[in-house]
Amino acid sequence: PDHRQIRNSADNSPLQIFVKAKKKINDIFGEIEDYVKDSVHYMQELQKEPHILDKDAVTKTEEYVKKVHGIRDVLARDHMKVAFFGRTSNGKSTVINAMLRDKILPSGIGHTTNCFLQVEGSPNDEAYLVLEGTTDHCAVESVGQLAHALCKEKLSESQLVKVYWPKNRCLLLRDDVVFVDSPGVDVTPNLDEWIDLHCLDADVFVLVANAESTLMVTEKNFFHKVSTRLSKPNIFILNNRWDASANEPEFLEQVRRQHQERAIDFLVKELKVCTPKEAEERIFFISAKEALLARIAEQGNTSPSMSLAEGFQNRYFEFQDFERKFEECISKSAVKTKFEQHSQRGKFITSELREALDKIYNDAQKLRDDKLLQRKELHNKVNYTEQQLMVITQEMKQKIHNIVEDVEQRVSKALNE
Ligand code: GTP
Ligand code: MG
Repeated sequence: PDHRQIRNSADNSPLQIFVKAKKKINDIFGEIEDYVKDSVHYMQELQKEPHILDKDAVTKTEEYVKKVHGIRDVLARDHMKVAFFGRTSNGKSTVINAMLRDKILPSGIGHTTNCFLQVEGSPNDEAYLVLEGTTDHCAVESVGQLAHALCKEKLSESQLVKVYWPKNRCLLLRDDVVFVDSPGVDVTPNLDEWIDLHCLDADVFVLVANAESTLMVTEKNFFHKVSTRLSKPNIFILNNRWDASANEPEFLEQVRRQHQERAIDFLVKELKVCTPKEAEERIFFISAKEALLARIAEQGNTSPSMSLAEGFQNRYFEFQDFERKFEECISKSAVKTKFEQHSQRGKFITSELREALDKIYNDAQKLRDDKLLQRKELHNKVNYTEQQLMVITQEMKQKIHNIVEDVEQRVSKALNE
């Protein structure tokens, strides 16, 4: 029953907007591919007949086969990408782990993220990682191994390590969400390089802030840079470590309101990426650590081992609320940015192809009409000749008749004499 429950909630997930759109557009391109191939085949046959087809039309159509194939390749690799940023130790890796429902990425003391880590669904349901610039698969079975593999390599902070994780262990991975974890924005002078290398194709950005302090200049700066490069990026702000507020319940509401106002101002007035109403749906107060523990406990069917602070249920609820809004946002955004281009190109190719086929049809029609006309002319000529012949024959007959009559008359006259 547990399994069924997960499957049910997966099918209601807003990520299905992307998953279904991807399937549909893929099917349509499958049909376009058949249609283009049929047309090429037909044209090649037709080319054997002289005078119907010019060579350029055939080569042009043959090129569409390659183009459609290329689009299908890109389509198959299209995914939704979310990138996490924030100051070091704010809990970026922990947020990702909570969403993945398992301790996958190393986090905490001694496990500072020191390069870019991209987590995506593994095509063969095995866990492994691939270092940038190599094709070697290093198998990993546990977080310990992953952390070890990452420490062992001399990696620079802008480098990317891809972690492939079995899709069946996480619905988000199954539904083509790709996670990007980053080192703290405060530890690098290379923000521009980060943006160029890792951010331009992200559908959603998550700023993991620390609810125990206010938004920092380094964090704000980074997003200012991002929003100059991308038009209206989708940004969520997570005020993480909200469990710490449980220690000071008397200030809870006040602190929350202050963080909320500042975060709204940042998104609306400073970055100008959304309206105040939209911003309300982009800011959350959560505890990633609690959410992760709760999920690990859920999977093992036990209760979380640590004693949870006051207000855990609310924070966990807010975390789930974040996930839902996030899923909605990323799938809609990805459908738009990724599939709009494809569908434009698909429309262009089909209309070009139709024009080519229309031209063949019209040319063939014209050829047929010409031949018909020729035949008619010939026919008319034959008719004329026949008529002429008839007239001549008639005349001849008459002449002969006259001559015969004349001869007869003369003969009978001679006889009478
Ligand atoms: P870097 O990779 O070093 O930049 O840090 P990070 O942002 O990835 O933070 P990470 O997830 O490694 O978390 C740092 C420490 O904070 C870990 O010990 C986490 O267990 C702890 N932590 C993360 N989220 C929370 C939270 O919501 N509440 C509390 N109390 N601790 C948290
Ligand atoms: Mg980290």
